[in-house]
Amino acid sequence: MEYGSDMAPTTSLPFDLRGKKLLLIIAGGIAAYKVLEVIRRGREAGLEIRSILTAGGAQFVTPLSVAALTENKVYQEIFSLTDESEMGHIRLVREADLILVAPASADIIAKMAHGLADDLASTALLAADKPVLIAPTMNVQMWAHAATQANIATLRARGIELVGPGKGDLACGEVGSGRLAEPPEILAAIARLLGHAQGPLSGKRALVTSGPTYEPIDPVRYIANRSSGKQGHAIAAALAKLGAETVLISGPTREPDPLGVRTVHIETAAEMLAACEANLPADIAVCAAAVADWRVAEHHEQKLKKEAGQDAPVLRLATNPDILATLSTAGAKRPSLVVGFAAETEKLIEHAKAKLARKGCDWILANDVGPGTGTFGGDSNLVHLVSRSGDEEWPRLSKLDVATRLAARIADELTGKHPTKEVKV
Ligand code: CTP
Repeated sequence: MEYGSDMAPTTSLPFDLRGKKLLLIIAGGIAAYKVLEVIRRGREAGLEIRSILTAGGAQFVTPLSVAALTENKVYQEIFSLTDESEMGHIRLVREADLILVAPASADIIAKMAHGLADDLASTALLAADKPVLIAPTMNVQMWAHAATQANIATLRARGIELVGPGKGDLACGEVGSGRLAEPPEILAAIARLLGHAQGPLSGKRALVTSGPTYEPIDPVRYIANRSSGKQGHAIAAALAKLGAETVLISGPTREPDPLGVRTVHIETAAEMLAACEANLPADIAVCAAAVADWRVAEHHEQKLKKEAGQDAPVLRLATNPDILATLSTAGAKRPSLVVGFAAETEKLIEHAKAKLARKGCDWILANDVGPGTGTFGGDSNLVHLVSRSGDEEWPRLSKLDVATRLAARIADELTGKHPTKEVKV
């Protein structure tokens, strides 16, 4: 089931980084291309970026593309007469609010840990008097090596911040830890360190589910639904904008990963539940995903073949776990505020209250999709926030506005400004 209408939220950046200065050090690594996206989105958020490209980094991205995207000169040589007269390495560091090393190779991490200063990047880092954020990326064995882990421990002990690395397929063909964090996650870390993701939800952790789930029949076929993920993604972005450290667990959608949010991509309901549980504890959980109610009971390892003269196969279904209900009854790990969605065509409040009791959540955002409401296929939602103490009728709103209002309402609830009282069960 799709929750809400089809209107795309207009893009809005969760951070205002105008007036902030980033010194970006691009070291060598195949993932250096992702840094171009960090620059692009950072510039959109108003960040001023100066960059140092190491000799290794220049093997993967060109100074021209970095200069074009940052709209600034790219610094490469430590003993360049023009660079030193225009902007020495000390000034580059002094004039920055934050230094980001991305990608941070095993080599530059080792240099930082041991205080080497044999090129512009390492010299600038040794002269750094500003917060330093590193986004490591390397082969899984290089990352796991005792030398790298000892270097990372040294850097952490010195207060250097890390973003990533993530797990997954690596460019070297191996699988494991070592992937460069995705650009939205790097941007979120920048904003956090620059103090610009501050808001009423700062210090709170939020978990949001979004999109459909795909339930495999065999290796090439699956059961799915038409959920777009627009509402869930907009909610994750809105919570991040208010300062919450937000994790979005998303089924397959066309929506881009929201800026400032860590997005975990899954396919099945079982994977969505496992990802949610792996990201507990959280203070807030919003289940906006249209989780498939059923999966195929027997998973076929090989593609089902048509056999001449045989009847069409019969698929036996098994019930999927209810993620909202599971999070609502997670005992000590239960988020303080658990929010679910319901799309109803009649008896909106009555059905929503019954769903609230059945699932054990705190709020249900009940969307009136009944005939004549114009919600289906329209560009706005007619929502009621149903809690145990009553219901609030919201005016007709776009999905983006539903997300903004919900995030503000959650902030009021958790800061005690506007409690519905029954939040802690
Ligand atoms: N939900 C979930 N896990 C499921 C099914 C639903 O987390 N396996 C969540 C959805 O994300 C949503 C709410 O539960 O927040 C919707 O509940 P559901 O029982 O699916 O209600 P409807 O889809 O509205 O359908 P019905 O009224 O037919 O029960």
